[in-house]
Amino acid sequence: MAHTSTYRTRIAGTGSYLPEKILTNVELEKLVDTSDAWIRERTGIASRHMAADGEFTSDLAFHASMRALEMAERTPADIDMILLATVSPDQIMPNTACVLQAKLGAPECMALDISAACSGFVYGLAIADQFIRTGPLKNILVVGAEVLHRIVNYKDRDTCILFGDAAGAAVVTRAEEGQDSTIYSHHLHADGKISDLFVLPGGGSVHPISQYVLDNNLQYVRMKGREIFKNAVRTMSQACQEALEYNQMSADQVDWVIPHQANIRIIEAVAKHFGIPMEKVVVEIEDTGNTSAATVPVTLDRAVRDGRIQRGQNVLLTAFGAGITSGSLLMRF
Ligand code: ACO
Repeated sequence: MAHTSTYRTRIAGTGSYLPEKILTNVELEKLVDTSDAWIRERTGIASRHMAADGEFTSDLAFHASMRALEMAERTPADIDMILLATVSPDQIMPNTACVLQAKLGAPECMALDISAACSGFVYGLAIADQFIRTGPLKNILVVGAEVLHRIVNYKDRDTCILFGDAAGAAVVTRAEEGQDSTIYSHHLHADGKISDLFVLPGGGSVHPISQYVLDNNLQYVRMKGREIFKNAVRTMSQACQEALEYNQMSADQVDWVIPHQANIRIIEAVAKHFGIPMEKVVVEIEDTGNTSAATVPVTLDRAVRDGRIQRGQNVLLTAFGAGITSGSLLMRF
């Protein structure tokens, strides 16, 4: 949805961080009954990064945030709000945004985690946009950060081949005069009726941590892969279409699409439904895997830093995640 507004919002800087350690498909062959060829063909993933022992979601978020602040020519002292999207927080309480705030030495601003799974970063950008458009805040740090390998069961071949650890960040600011980049619109959705497609059952009020949780592996994610696949294609295609209709634009006017990086075949199907050539779709899944809330900001940052995405271009972000959440955000970068 978009806006009656006083100010315009722009992304002033992006950053990303991937931990050093790499887990390849060939290494996964030793853990579960799978093969490098199967994983590549079905997902487009060859390897993924894994946080080291003692490295937490807030640490990945810290590195990505510092890089985004540097590009935006801001310091932690400039931050007016921190929004951190994650499904793998450092702990349930306090929120990881507060831990990040302390690590950054940021002011005592509002700091909040967003639980919208893989759509979390797009949700965060939309919330930041609203606060900037209506005036009270100027610089909001939006982060997607995950250490998923600690909530994945490396005996479950359905899930363990997919996920990796990463963080990405953006500094969202009020556009000054002469800066024509702007967030045009966002369209966010959730459909709780199909929330059973992707769950992490243990550790909440339904299944508090107990021997039962551990005996039944409820501390790990579980999913219905084929159903997720179908719904991912449907919801992301719809959200992209909604963005175009709202802004009275055609797919030709979009320079880049950055979809959630869950699976190369999902991405290709979205491009086909949406009617945009794959040359305009940024794909960064091969060496990262699915990093949930981090995929969109990491992919955005990579394309900005290597010069694919230029200022003035129209960029469409779209995501889909557990919940089932989904959405799109269209901007002139
Ligand atoms: N290695 C080898 N074989 C496997 C593996 C594996 N890792 N996993 C499943 N198989 C087998 C299945 O058991 C099945 O065997 P069967 O035919 O004997 O029953 C066969 O491969 C085909 O299984 P499918 O489930 O039909 O395979 P599909 O082509 O659908 O690919 C996949 C599975 C990759 C999980 C796909 O469905 C997918 O990517 N879904 C979306 C998953 C996803 O994105 N999840 C997260 C989204 S939400 C978020 O990002 C937070």
